[in-house]
Amino acid sequence: MDKVIVTRKIPQKFIEQLEQSYEVYMWDEAYEPMPRDQFLESIKDATACFITLSEKIDDTVIDQAPNLKVIANMAVGFDNIDVSLAQSRGIVVTNTPKVLTETTAELGFTLMLTVARRIVEAEHYVQQGDWQSWAPYLLAGKDLFNSKVGIYGMGDIGKAFARRLKGFNTQVMYHNRTRNRHAEEKLGALYVPFDTLIEHSDFIICTAPLTEETRNKFDKPVFEKMKSDAIFINIGRGAVVDEKALIDALQNKEIAGCGLDVLRKEPIDMSHPLLKMDNVVILPHIGSASVTTRDRMVQLCVDNITRVLNNQPPKTPVQLDD
Ligand code: DGY
Repeated sequence: MDKVIVTRKIPQKFIEQLEQSYEVYMWDEAYEPMPRDQFLESIKDATACFITLSEKIDDTVIDQAPNLKVIANMAVGFDNIDVSLAQSRGIVVTNTPKVLTETTAELGFTLMLTVARRIVEAEHYVQQGDWQSWAPYLLAGKDLFNSKVGIYGMGDIGKAFARRLKGFNTQVMYHNRTRNRHAEEKLGALYVPFDTLIEHSDFIICTAPLTEETRNKFDKPVFEKMKSDAIFINIGRGAVVDEKALIDALQNKEIAGCGLDVLRKEPIDMSHPLLKMDNVVILPHIGSASVTTRDRMVQLCVDNITRVLNNQPPKTPVQLDD
């Protein structure tokens, strides 16, 4: 019987689907990743694995798993997986695109408005009993209305984000590896060079995946070019940003604030300097975290595993660009 490893606790209704045909080994913790040595041990005789972005799939894992046919990643991003290596060994890699697009764009939008209108600071202000009177500039923030918004990464999430901007009378610019006609014609997004995007935007939203091209894209020279009242939002991957450069930019007032749903090291160290800044909002990588969307992501992983183990093409295979 094929053996499926599930590296995080998922609802029983999904496990039951897998158990109809396979032996399933699920790590029974919802909030703690499966320890690496246990993962390496259990994958030895597995034919499929259902993983999250906490699991790094490298040559050690692949060498350890001679029977593995499919790796189903519960994420759209797949920078945790050496996809070329897996594919060179005949292992299918799948991800969860589309099903999380709207939820992730919605979180990015929430984060942008939260930073712009200083919502976290305002809530602390009330909770701490500092609210003594109305004041002309009390917690005055920044308007999204009438602003220029620059989207870096115009994939599905970038487009869903641009669509949400329509009601705010913004001018939308974008930069992407390739031009996106849909974004230009249907959403009125203007394609601009990267430097134009960072120099002219009031809000800069990064939705880009982590690739060799995007790694450390937001570095010191980039933050220096931004407007001093710009707000930077990252819902892509942490390593797209040089965090030291971001901290310097915030300390030197080269930008006004930032909102991050993703960090280079997750979870963040509690001593991280970004946690001490009032104009920074950090979230624990919850872009796609609505119950409906997480259910859809899990179901898609289950479907992909079932299809591959039945010699059918998966619904959402990862395909590497040349
Ligand atoms: C993704 O899907 O890549 C997210 O970052 C995890 O929800």
